[in-house]
Amino acid sequence: MSDTEETLANLLREDRRFEPPADLAAAANVKADAYDAARTDRDAFWAEQAERLTWATKWDQVLDWSNAPFAKWFVGGTLNASYNCVDRHVEAGRGDKVAIHWVGEPEGDTRDITYAQLKDEVSQAANALTALGVGTGDRVAIYMPMIPEAIVAMLACARIGAPHTVVFGGFSADALASRIDDCQAKVVITSDGGYRRGAPSALKPAVDEARTKTDKIEKVLVVRRTGQDLGENGWDDDVDVWWHDAVGGASTEHTPEAFDSEHPLYVMYTSGTTGKPKGILHTTGGYLTGASYTHHAVFDLKPETDVYWCTADIGWVTGHSYIVYGPLANGVTQVLYEGTPDSPEPGRWWKIIADYKVSLFYTAPTAIRSFMKQGREVPDRHDMSSLRILGSVGEPINPEAYVWYRHVIGGDRTPVVDTWWQTETGAVMISPLPGVTSGKPGSAMTPIPGIGADVVDDDGNPVPNGSGGYLVVTSPWPSMLRTLWGDDDRYVDTYWSRFKQQGYYFAGDGAKKDEDGDIWVLGRVDDVMNVSGHRLSTTEIESALVSHPKVAESAVVGASDPDTGQAVVAYVILRDEAGDGGPDIIKELSDHVRSQIGPIAKPRQIMIVPELPKTRSGKIMRRLLRDVAEGRAVGDTQTLADASIMDLISAGQATST
Ligand code: WTA
Repeated sequence: MSDTEETLANLLREDRRFEPPADLAAAANVKADAYDAARTDRDAFWAEQAERLTWATKWDQVLDWSNAPFAKWFVGGTLNASYNCVDRHVEAGRGDKVAIHWVGEPEGDTRDITYAQLKDEVSQAANALTALGVGTGDRVAIYMPMIPEAIVAMLACARIGAPHTVVFGGFSADALASRIDDCQAKVVITSDGGYRRGAPSALKPAVDEARTKTDKIEKVLVVRRTGQDLGENGWDDDVDVWWHDAVGGASTEHTPEAFDSEHPLYVMYTSGTTGKPKGILHTTGGYLTGASYTHHAVFDLKPETDVYWCTADIGWVTGHSYIVYGPLANGVTQVLYEGTPDSPEPGRWWKIIADYKVSLFYTAPTAIRSFMKQGREVPDRHDMSSLRILGSVGEPINPEAYVWYRHVIGGDRTPVVDTWWQTETGAVMISPLPGVTSGKPGSAMTPIPGIGADVVDDDGNPVPNGSGGYLVVTSPWPSMLRTLWGDDDRYVDTYWSRFKQQGYYFAGDGAKKDEDGDIWVLGRVDDVMNVSGHRLSTTEIESALVSHPKVAESAVVGASDPDTGQAVVAYVILRDEAGDGGPDIIKELSDHVRSQIGPIAKPRQIMIVPELPKTRSGKIMRRLLRDVAEGRAVGDTQTLADASIMDLISAGQATST
């Protein structure tokens, strides 16, 4: 056993708790008394946090919950999110402070942007969008790589009150088109491409293809990032506009208008339990309060000295709350990195941390696990003594990964904050506080001040310590989703009907409370998978498979996977006329899912099966399929209409990829 392995093994055996470092605890932004203050008067607590922002008009009422579950926070207040993230820092004399240390993937391709420069660019982009016909309330889709213009685009939309919907660059043209259709975005902001794994990766062609699938798009604003060839017919003079012309030529003067606290800020699509992605709506005042406060509290942010880096993509909620809105409202200096973690070499991330002296670092367990596999020699080559706090998000962090993260990356000095939250919650809900909580590897610990969460049984009663159940949020919170875009009924059904009597928000996650009452999140209890921290719906992938002409029926399950947490495993019944599907059927189906949804939804395994296990009432028994996918003996088959089917499926495994 090597030294490291031995130390790690000891750490795990010790069942040890990690106390906050004394100096960090003494100087912490948020101390233990915050929990009591929030419990005593929740509304007063959140009102105090809202004072972190600059309001044009102060609110009259903190929370209007009279039409629950449709919340209004900071009723009567007005503000501009972009002003709060940019202008006010410049007005306070911090215009020369670096807001973004941008690191492109090609080495040496970097750019530092100060708050004053950010203000100019955001103002120019706001003017350009207005000139393109975008008005208050109009939706704008953003489909971009991790370049500063992505942040500028989001803030420009916020500045003019045009809700943005950022679509992850890894989604296909189909997925992009359906999101654009659903929220009726009239302008798309994109780029020719971005750098991934050492090469330019195109984005604009997907927008062109999306335009053949939806007629909503009036204008496409294109950043030139890679300079790559746009292809034949890759430019339409009636629709396409270069960013450097439209934005570059616009005035840097722009007066931000104050909007109502409940003005829509953005729509973020996320997978639900049905095939159609849900458009999660976030509004302005409450969301910004939640993002700003949690970033300050959970990362103990000291804006004068900290350098912050969140590795999430701007296309996910983590990028929204913890790259754009929370950190910029708090006036941070942060790193923004364009590319993949291992380009051009496996230690790229650690080199960036050393180069910029990053002190607060936020990433996902799936990334940590992949670095563990490479071995500690890679991070050990870099001086990461600047790190102060490490964060984790997106899926449960297994204790081994937690301990490795703290030990190898954090030099055993840094608290690890395991933050549980969702696209819907807008901001962190359950997490240790780095100056207060003694952390337990694998536990998200307790709800942060101002948040009520619990684990309940089927009837909505809190489970005793030592037991498991459903994770719920017990009271409204400022950054909560307000509804699903265009679908109030689905909003009520999905989140508020399961524990209607208690008025609890149903998160869709299972969790347990340990003997101390600390919360361990276990994962989804619905048909949502978590693949590398990305939410995918089983039904959405099933619909994609069934849309292939050779497929009659399909069932998809999330099987546990050592690298990605869960992986997509698909069972497919072919149509009679398709015969055996031909020699390339597996690849054909896999490519089809890729083109319908995107590479992240690509199944790890596709099995062609003669039948699917169903109950007598015709419901697919996914539990049994998960048993097969995870290599377990198949469980109880009593409720199956035809028990012999499982023998066929188990035997047929050899024919899959
Ligand atoms: C999971 C990402 C355990 C959970 C911010 C949740 C987690 C879903 C954690 C939301 C965590 C997120 N521990 N599970 N610390 N953080 N999850 O909407 O299943 O992309 O419901 O938001 O990720 O994923 P979403």
